[in-house]
Amino acid sequence: MKIRKKILLTRALPKPGMDLLNEYFKLKIGSKENAMTKSEIINEIAGHDALICLLTDHIDAEIIRASRQLRVIANFAVGYNNIDIKTATKLKIPVTNTPGVLTETTADLTFALLLTIARRIIEADRFTRQGKFTGWSPMLFLGQDIYNKTLGVIGMGRIGRAVAHRAKGFNMRILYYDTLRLSEKEENDLGIHYAALDKLLQESDFVSIHVPLNKQTHHLINLEKLELMKKSAYIINVARGAVIDEKGLVTALKNKIIAGCGLDVYENEPDIQKELLELKNTVVVPHIGSASIETRSNMALITANNVISVLIDKTRAPHTVNPEVYE
Ligand code: GLV
Repeated sequence: MKIRKKILLTRALPKPGMDLLNEYFKLKIGSKENAMTKSEIINEIAGHDALICLLTDHIDAEIIRASRQLRVIANFAVGYNNIDIKTATKLKIPVTNTPGVLTETTADLTFALLLTIARRIIEADRFTRQGKFTGWSPMLFLGQDIYNKTLGVIGMGRIGRAVAHRAKGFNMRILYYDTLRLSEKEENDLGIHYAALDKLLQESDFVSIHVPLNKQTHHLINLEKLELMKKSAYIINVARGAVIDEKGLVTALKNKIIAGCGLDVYENEPDIQKELLELKNTVVVPHIGSASIETRSNMALITANNVISVLIDKTRAPHTVNPEVYE
């Protein structure tokens, strides 16, 4: 019998991915409930040909070097700031991600947060459940309009575009900032206008973040930047927490420098600054941008296929973030 290649998964993936992986490989699942610790991963990884990990696993050089036969690292996420790409590339190990399938789902959550914070849905829900609704009232839970307002999208990649597409349905004026400006045709097709970051912050009623986390985007939005925003404006973050300086954000929210925020991601997940949980002008959800049944299943299939490409088909994985390794 042919010996099956071995995969270490730090956690089980949704069933479609597990079923596919089980057809080809011998699987070792590191942990049922909690994230594996670094030393647990190091202890387990020896002898494995692939590592399938989550965005919460910090895959550093020590882990990457701990299995001599490691041939691929497959992240069950589109973002891959949790992996030491430099070391993986040096060792010619492809690192893969799951782009595309979570674009629309993440854009949906962006709008869910935007609508929820602007229309005070959480506060109104609590109030209603507490039996405080005694009748329609002219001033009850007045929020902000979304329709006809200005949306500033920071990062006009796949998800930024999907957000812009939704914003069109709300007749919003859409500004965007990115390090790369789109062509005039693309801007016209999407109905978006380029703006320098400061101008975008000054003019937007809603600012939504869609950049990957890297050295350039770490704390891209700090207190100084938040101070440029309108007092009535909201900021939404479904990208990575550390793109915003969370301390600066708390100061801005407490001092009413901005009106509020909708957050899916945090600088030190799963820790969240307690003020963000206490303030009324925040909506906080636990990193669920891609959390739909369909999308997580698709992400699991892409992750499995990335590994199959490398270990079984002996070819390039379809979604390799460090394609230099194939050169
Ligand atoms: C989610 O945050 C992802 O990067 O897939």
